[in-house]
Amino acid sequence: MRIILLGPPGAGKGTQAKFISEKFGIPHISTGDIFMRNITEGTELGKKAKSFIDQGLLVPDEVTIDLVMNRLDQADVEEGYLLDGFPRTAYQGEVLCRMIRKGGQVLDAALLIDVPSSYIRERMPGRRICRFCGASYHLQFNPPEEVGLCDHCGHELAERRDDHAEAVEERLKVYEEQTMPLIEFFEKKKLLLRIDGTKEIEAVTREIFEKLSTLENHE
Ligand code: AP5
Ligand code: MG
Ligand code: ZN
Repeated sequence: MRIILLGPPGAGKGTQAKFISEKFGIPHISTGDIFMRNITEGTELGKKAKSFIDQGLLVPDEVTIDLVMNRLDQADVEEGYLLDGFPRTAYQGEVLCRMIRKGGQVLDAALLIDVPSSYIRERMPGRRICRFCGASYHLQFNPPEEVGLCDHCGHELAERRDDHAEAVEERLKVYEEQTMPLIEFFEKKKLLLRIDGTKEIEAVTREIFEKLSTLENHE
């Protein structure tokens, strides 16, 4: 299965990606998580991406597309993958579709986790993340078992560098201007599955699984 996840910042893409990737046995590839890891490790890629991410802006297409194309060249994604946070511009969408076509493959679905901006503004201040394994928590809606520690790996949880109010506003604006056109792009290709992301985490997962189970079995 080849699936992409669309949705505003904080929609729950990363949260749901963990469940989808487990159920279908496909690698979860989050461009945001890859950038964050590189920033933490101080790599060249991290240095290139940092100022854009901190301001809530997109990392330029040439950097991001190269990164994803290299990742999709690896052996573990031959049978499928779940892309979280890519594509995010019309151009990224075109490049991905061209690449999939060239490889004689198909994209199964573009899942849109839809959440209005008012919900996002309320959700963001409560998010905590594990920098070690990428898991995402929420002080109120998805607290870890032990306060301040990751359930999966025990590392300390932290706030995300781009979750302050100013960056969130910028990310919402960027989403509206640069990513929302992709909704229509995938709708025209009859690949869009709209999910109500305002419900509880478990209810959102259920809706995703129900909608994915209606797809034809491509491979
Ligand atoms: P990225 O990391 O992709 O950020 P994003 O799209 O802004 O999305 P988030 O990761 O913030 O949110 P999410 O939807 O994963 O939500 P989560 O599950 O954590 O990208 C970061 C930056 O990298 C970008 O700004 C850009 O600079 C750069 N970048 C990345 N990809 C790029 C690309 N393709 N091109 C160019 N630049 C790129 O959930 C959020 C919170 O809500 C958590 O606290 C969670 O516990 C809680 N929650 C989840 N679901 C629910 C629910 N149903 N009810 C209540 N709370 C919930
Ligand atoms: Mg995420
Ligand atoms: Zn962890």
